[in-house]
Amino acid sequence: MKPYVILSAAMTLDGKIATKTGSSNISSKEDLIRVHELRKEVDGIMVGINTVISDNPKLTVHKIDAKLEDNPVRIIVDSRARTPIAAKVTNNDSKTIIAVANNYKHDFITSNRYDALKQRADIFFSGTNKVDLSALLDYLYQKGIKLLMLEGGSTLNFEMIKQGLIDEIRVAIAPMIVGGIDAKTLFGGSGFDTIDEAVSLEFIDSKIIGDDLVLKYNVLNARS
Ligand SMILES: NC(=O)c1ccc[n+]([C@@H]2O[C@H](COP(=O)([O-])OP(=O)(O)OC[C@H]3O[C@@H](n4cnc5c(N)ncnc54)[C@H](OP(=O)(O)O)[C@@H]3O)[C@@H](O)[C@H]2O)c1
Repeated sequence: MKPYVILSAAMTLDGKIATKTGSSNISSKEDLIRVHELRKEVDGIMVGINTVISDNPKLTVHKIDAKLEDNPVRIIVDSRARTPIAAKVTNNDSKTIIAVANNYKHDFITSNRYDALKQRADIFFSGTNKVDLSALLDYLYQKGIKLLMLEGGSTLNFEMIKQGLIDEIRVAIAPMIVGGIDAKTLFGGSGFDTIDEAVSLEFIDSKIIGDDLVLKYNVLNARS
């Protein structure tokens, strides 16, 4: 079993979720409220390690009225255990789970970083060289995380959708263009070779929030 997974992101009209230098504050004030309302609703919120290193997010509910109990469990997909010890995502505002791959287990658990991170987060080992996303979602479901928000980045988004692990997409399109072949798009990773392999979506609805267009889709290859 896996949680119901909602990918939430803000992108520019040209599909970028950050500039080529990693600047990513694309969401408008109004869109941030949408994001934080969703964070309040979900049981968990998951990101890839590059997002933690690049943005140092707290991944808590703080743009709207909320109590500590409203904060979702934060999950970092981090095969090589690179999460910085002082990363905001490991603060006391909520629980944190760091998912690490088995190939890095020995070096990690014999390092000083393990003791430090273990005090701030639960560590889950799966997969060989990369975190096994299916096994991680199964573990999260068993831990009571039935509704999970995926907040990027580009590489993790693609692996998740490729494996049929995303149920719904909510994307805010900001009226701006940043360009740049190296700027991350909503789905990066290795990509598909042919259009035949493309993941099909079903449109749910659209809404204007502030200056942004927010689109919602169901993902048709989603696994239960
Ligand atoms: N606008 C938005 O809504 C938004 C939201 C979030 C992020 N962002 C931006 O996105 C950028 C980061 O995106 P990114 O693509 O560089 O990184 P990412 O998706 O945040 O993290 C990717 C990393 O996750 C790790 N990982 C572990 N297991 C994995 C697996 N099974 N599949 C895929 N990844 C796995 C890999 O590193 P290891 O091999 O070391 O584990 C991989 O390189 C930042 O610039 C951030 O600002 C924008």
